Amino acid sequence: MDVMTLRMPVRVRRDAGFGVGCRAVTQAVSIDATAAYDIRAADCISFLRSLPDSSVDVITTDPAYSGMNQHMRFGHGRIVGAYGKPGNARWFTEFSDDPATYRAFLGECRRVLRDGRHIYIMFDSFSLLSLGALVRDFFDVKCVIVWDKVHLGMGHYFRRRHEHIVFATKGRRKLSRRDLQDVWSVSRLRRAAYPTQKPVELFERMLEGSAEPGFMVCDPFCGSGSAAIAALRHGCDFVGADIAPGAVEMARARCAAWSATGSDPLEPAV
Ligand SMILES: C[S@@+](CC[C@H](N)C(=O)[O-])C[C@H]1O[C@@H](n2cnc3c(N)ncnc32)[C@H](O)[C@@H]1O
Repeated sequence: MDVMTLRMPVRVRRDAGFGVGCRAVTQAVSIDATAAYDIRAADCISFLRSLPDSSVDVITTDPAYSGMNQHMRFGHGRIVGAYGKPGNARWFTEFSDDPATYRAFLGECRRVLRDGRHIYIMFDSFSLLSLGALVRDFFDVKCVIVWDKVHLGMGHYFRRRHEHIVFATKGRRKLSRRDLQDVWSVSRLRRAAYPTQKPVELFERMLEGSAEPGFMVCDPFCGSGSAAIAALRHGCDFVGADIAPGAVEMARARCAAWSATGSDPLEPAV
């Protein structure tokens, strides 16, 4: 993609008081913006607590649920190869997703999200059944999107080819398009740089009907930064966090490379 097309002047509101990587402008200005990003090493809940009320416009997130893995450890299933070994650096830290912690997480998501805005939360099938219903206590759940990964993954009984994305609103806001469907066929990444790295296209689809240039997009479990790249490509700003310092380093380097060249080093073809 031509870098010039990525740097179209956009009207950017910067009034939320974010930190590193953001320009301190307090009123609406029209600038030639390479959108700003702010990626912090932090636990998701402390990170969200550090953000002001009603300061983000879209949340797109892919939490590190522990439920599926714990369940499989108790059964006859196994976590794939070396990933299953405790303390394995090739895997990532899991989020302790008991209902009380998950409620605290959702409560903070609600507090930081502006009224009349959208949230997208990814779920594997195990967590969808154990935690998904809690989303209704905090947001108006509108639908469950199926991500068809196109290629088969590993499986416990049936081999997995899909995941879920719960789409919900805080207050009233329609999608900006009426032709969007609830099954998304987007090939999963093979040989990705980061464990469970998701395709940028998946996050771009979340923004398609929910974001406007200059919106602040937030991902409290940003991993390698796929949601950040989607936000920047969409002319949005991004604020996110990950508990793993290595992930934060990777996501920051990825965003810096994208901002400098218009090309994503972890998905060069996009
Ligand atoms: C499923 S991965 C996200 C992958 C990301 N969507 C990508 O495309 O690279 C979940 C991430 O959550 C992080 N994580 C685990 N526990 C966390 C916590 N308590 N707070 C913030 N991040 C956490 C992990 O380090 C991991 O990078």
